[in-house]
Order: sequence, then C-alpha cells, then structure tokens
Amino acid sequence: MSTNAFIYTSQPSRVVFGVGSLSQLTQEIKQLGAKRALVLSTPEQREQANAIAELLGERAVGVFDQAVMHVPIETARAAIAVARELGADCAVAIGGGSTTGLGKAIALDSGMPILAIPTTYAGSEMTPVYGITENGLKKTGKDPRVLPKTVIYDAELTYSLPVSLSVTSGINAIAHAAEGLYARDGNPVMALMAEEGIRAMAEGLERVVKNAADPGARADCLYGAWLCGTVLGHVGMALHHKLCHTLGGSFNLPHAPAHTVVLPHAIAYNAEAAPEAAQRICRALGVSHGLAGAALYDLAERLGAPLTLRELGLNESDLDKATDIALANPYWNPRPIERDGIRQLLQDAFDGRRPRA
Ligand SMILES: NC(=O)c1ccc[n+]([C@@H]2O[C@H](COP(=O)([O-])OP(=O)(O)OC[C@H]3O[C@@H](n4cnc5c(N)ncnc54)[C@H](O)[C@@H]3O)[C@@H](O)[C@H]2O)c1
Repeated sequence: MSTNAFIYTSQPSRVVFGVGSLSQLTQEIKQLGAKRALVLSTPEQREQANAIAELLGERAVGVFDQAVMHVPIETARAAIAVARELGADCAVAIGGGSTTGLGKAIALDSGMPILAIPTTYAGSEMTPVYGITENGLKKTGKDPRVLPKTVIYDAELTYSLPVSLSVTSGINAIAHAAEGLYARDGNPVMALMAEEGIRAMAEGLERVVKNAADPGARADCLYGAWLCGTVLGHVGMALHHKLCHTLGGSFNLPHAPAHTVVLPHAIAYNAEAAPEAAQRICRALGVSHGLAGAALYDLAERLGAPLTLRELGLNESDLDKATDIALANPYWNPRPIERDGIRQLLQDAFDGRRPRA
C-alpha cells in the first residue's frame, strides 16, 4: 500500500468488550460520575431494559421503552421530558441504532452522557452522527456531545437477535467499512480497521446462520460491528450510503435490508476507481478473483439475505425517481456520479443481478 498524506482525528470513547461484560455496568456508570440513569429501549426490548434497571439498582431512575426507527421528534421530546422529570444524569441505551439514536437526541438537548449497550451491528454507538425525523423528513447532523462516552459490547445480549436481522445488520456494518476504504478523508488506521471489520463480520455471520447462539461467532460479529462502526464514526461515506438514505427516506425501504441489497452494486460501480479498496474487500472475504461487488453478492446469497429491491417493496416505476433523488446533492464519490450508471446500478439491485466487478 502506498501511504498518502492524511489527517486522523480519533473520537474519544471507552469500549468495554467481552462476553459477560454487562456485569461491569454499575462500575462504568460510577466511572461516568452518574448516579441517576434513565434506561432506554424499544417496546420489544423492554425486558432487557428492565434487567438493566435491576442490575443498576438505586442508580437507575426509570425505563423509557418507546424508541422506534429514525427517532421521531415527538418520541425524542417525550424521552427528554421523562429524563428531566426523573432528574436523570445519564442515559443507558440498550438496543440497536434506533435506541442509540434516541439516546443521542437526549444528549443533544441536555449534554448528558450516554452509555450504549448495542444489541445489533448497526454501529451508531461509535459515531457522533445523530438523526431526528420531523414531519416525515430526517435531519442528520454531527455533534461530539452525542457520541456515547462508554460502550459495553456483550455478545450474550445478541444471541436473541434473529438470524435474518443479524445478517442484514451485519452487512449494514460491512457497508460502513467498505465505503470507509475509499473515503476521501480515509487514513491507514481506518483502512486496517475496515478490512479486519469486514473479515470478522463475514466470518462471524457465516457461523451465526448455522447456529444463532454460537458464542464465538456472536463475539466475532460484535467485534466486527465495533470496527465497522468506528470507521463510520471517523470518515465520510459515499455513493452507497447516499443511495440507501434515498431508498429509506423517500421510499420507506427498511434500513439494514436496503443496505444489504445495494452494497454489492455500489461497490462494483466504484471498483475501478478505487482498486485498493476492492482488493482489501476481496482479501477480507477470502476471494482471489478480485471482483469485490461479486464477492459481497455471493456472501449475501450464502447468508440467505435479500438480493433484490423488488422483494423489499420498491416499485420498478420508482427507479427513475430514485435516480433523480440520488443525483441531487450527491455525496463525494471516488467515481463520478453518472446518471446512466446510477440508473443501471439501481436496476441491477432491483433485479438482483450478480455484479460483474
Ligand atoms: N447515527 C448513526 O451513526 C447510525 C448508524 C447506523 C444506523 N443508524 C440508524 O439506526 C437505525 C437502525 O438500527 P438497527 O438496524 O440497529 O435496528 P433497530 O435499532 O431499529 O432494531 C431493529 C429491531 O430489532 C430489535 N432488536 C435489537 N437487538 C435485538 C436483540 N439482540 N434481540 C432481539 N431483538 C433485538 C429492536 O428492538 C428492534 O425492534 C436507523 O434509523 C439508522 O438510520 C444510525
């Protein structure tokens, strides 16, 4: 690898990793100087949230279990009001990106620290990026206050994540690393983390589909999620993330499955313009043919993941509109964003064609 000039600013966060590491929660809350934690979760994960509150004993002041996808402003306001009412001095978010996102909304308003306990592989816990949805529009921003101060990664909490969700969530994580490999503001540290993140996640997922409660496989996936999330938190994303933002925001496609279907095609589109990234992706996936998009497609197929935008509910008649939206205010990308190429990319993703690059 040729080492070009770079600037690297690391994001300060404390990571406690390991099976059973949840037992260190009270110690970690003390370390934050907090005494009154508000526990956050989705309604589906209420039981896990209750267990966290019980573990914290008198250091927990309540549970708010209304987290939902994309952080509607009404939910954020309700959570902020509850946090104020209870005199909370920190938020403990147990769950996926939706719950971490709610914690970020509280932190943005109050500056209170978040301790995140991720139970999916989305990676939000490692980023200073937040999103809040108002009147159907998701506004995103970056603020150092929303970056969780402490993250506890305990693979035991992920055994219950259904296999299909594990697969799409894991490929969502791989997408962060894959785009991080050709980011304009990329650097050698992130490239190392990205390659290792893709390798660990892909190997872990192959074993999770055989046995959802395989402790080693789950730990590998969570390790991969940490690495991929770290990449997302440090460098800018490109075409792939823009396309997924469009498909989620304007056509309501589910977040992680949309990432899963689009990724092989976006990486194939960029492969020639970013040969080193393609090479690293292939190495991480253990293939020698050099076709990064095809290798990601084959991985998704082996894992039983969705392969077409059609099956995610997109109408073929929306492909032109999706192309227009993706072309408006495009993110920086290693290959120029060309209308015909993007339209073809979306058609291929719609039909689930195996990429040729
Ligand atoms: N800001 C960022 O940096 C960032 C990064 C990645 C994703 N996100 C956002 O996160 C959201 C998606 O997050 P996600 O994909 O993690 O999904 P999610 O948080 O919406 O979780 C999906 C479902 O799985 C359930 N679940 C989570 N962990 C489980 C477990 N271990 N066992 C059983 N059920 C479990 C949840 O309760 C929920 O019902 C999107 O809104 C996305 O935009 C933000």
